Amino acid sequence: MSSVLGTYARKNISFKEGKGSYLYDENGEKYLDFVQGIAVNVLGHCHDHLVKTIQEQSKKLWHVSNAFVIPEQEKLAKRLTDNTFADFVCFQNSGTEATEASIKIARKYFHEIGKTEKKRIITFKGAFHGRTLAALFAANNPKHVEGFGPKVDGFDQVPFTDLKSIKKTLNKNTAAIMIETIMGEGGIKTMSNDFLKGIKDLCAEHEVLLILDEVQCGVGRTGNFFAFEKSGIEPDIVPIAKGIGGGFPLGACLVTKKVSVGMTPGTHGSTFGGNPLAMSVGNAVLDIIYEKDFLKNVKQKGEYFEGILNKLKDKYPKIIEEVRGVGLIRGLKMLVDNTEFIKKLTEQKMLTVKAEENVVRLFPPLIVSNKELDEAITKIESVCKEMN
Ligand SMILES: Cc1ncc(COP(=O)(O)O)c(C=O)c1O
Repeated sequence: MSSVLGTYARKNISFKEGKGSYLYDENGEKYLDFVQGIAVNVLGHCHDHLVKTIQEQSKKLWHVSNAFVIPEQEKLAKRLTDNTFADFVCFQNSGTEATEASIKIARKYFHEIGKTEKKRIITFKGAFHGRTLAALFAANNPKHVEGFGPKVDGFDQVPFTDLKSIKKTLNKNTAAIMIETIMGEGGIKTMSNDFLKGIKDLCAEHEVLLILDEVQCGVGRTGNFFAFEKSGIEPDIVPIAKGIGGGFPLGACLVTKKVSVGMTPGTHGSTFGGNPLAMSVGNAVLDIIYEKDFLKNVKQKGEYFEGILNKLKDKYPKIIEEVRGVGLIRGLKMLVDNTEFIKKLTEQKMLTVKAEENVVRLFPPLIVSNKELDEAITKIESVCKEMN
């Protein structure tokens, strides 16, 4: 019997090593890994540059308190702000801490400018923002919140992509609208540019901040650094995590100068957030992602993947209903049971992960090759054939 608290329904496989797109189990069996820690290992398993970085940094310095200046942190923050909408970055350890920090920053901004009535955040049905109490009740998924009351107040939920409901719900107490640019756990649901622009216009009209949760879809996964870039809008606050650490626990909250005014010394903190070891890995991830043509290649591979997935959908219309997503964040909405499909794919030595709406999620690493994408299609097709 395991001594680990049983909060996961784990599959009975464990891995002893990984390289790039592949994992190897205890028996040496090779698996094509399109889970990658749920969109975490953007550079695949044990990328040489990350391994070298962590080895070198681990001999120099692991952890110092945020009571001191941390040069690696300054460097990562500067690189993130030089290349994005943001002026400041606040480092955390996980996605849920980054979304939680986003909520705090939005509320504190209005407090600071004397609009203390603006405290409430509009969120969306089917969202996922993490497992701290505020993030849980922000998403308000009945499966996740049951038994964890009393409810954390301050969130008003509306249906996904329904501008009319947002308009109706907005009031003088609304501080922010918080939405995943691509809804991940909810089923890889994308939003039109028009909808995003519509939200941004409402925010401007009602003096409301826009928080775009890019914990799952950010850091290069769509072929842009942020998924929202293609819409041309600019958010006020963006929590990221997963990809920025490439497998090392790291989260961050990116903010504009305007909304940062309330975040003075003592207003927020994290013992581990932004320590030299984590920051050196974050910088190493950016070394690769910022390489010329890296994101262009992600875009091309994403389009290639979309093309071959759609061919498969057309060939097996009774199995795959829809190909969702952008770039290398993909979902197959299934007409057969997604759990059964994933089980059969695992037997074919390919790893995937489910989402709501009967979706199978596919997260190849951003360094995946077209040959590996073809291999994925062969494995997916063999399960389609079997279940047809
Ligand atoms: C969109 C989104 N926000 C927040 C989180 C929470 O991140 P973490 O599990 O690192 O706390 C997740 C995790 O899946 C996520 O997908």
